[in-house]
Amino acid sequence: MYRWIVSALLLSSTALAQDATRGDNLYKANNCIQCHGPNGQGVTDQKGPRIGGQYDWYVLKALSDFKKGERNNPEMYPYIRNLSEQDYKDLSAYVAQLSGQD
Ligand code: HEC
Repeated sequence: MYRWIVSALLLSSTALAQDATRGDNLYKANNCIQCHGPNGQGVTDQKGPRIGGQYDWYVLKALSDFKKGERNNPEMYPYIRNLSEQDYKDLSAYVAQLSGQD
């Protein structure tokens, strides 16, 4: 019984965890760099704002607001529409760790 509870707890904490390493891969694979830069410093030509070092909860909220259409972002929408909630969490953890500097 005790063992069952411990493994259930471990499983649920894994499911909730944010994985910044996975977020790093997602950031590279989904073109975030093109508009936000490798350090999240922003890219002027693309009108991509600086996001590096932003709070993870803010990045997560922005991504889900764009997905739900509560914020309108036609440039970025095609790149995030097919990502999962877990992908958003992992991306947020990674973006929060970026310096935001050139
Ligand atoms: C084609 C360009 C483009 C790509 C690719 C792109 N973005 Fe964006 N992103 C933008 C633009 C433009 C905005 C500003 C939109 C607005 O708020 O009106 C933005 C805004 C954001 C914001 C909100 C910033 C704030 O201060 O509210 C976050 C977070 C973000 N992008 C993360 C990402 C992530 C993560 C990826 C990769 C999955 C990504 N973006 C890919 C162009 C892009």
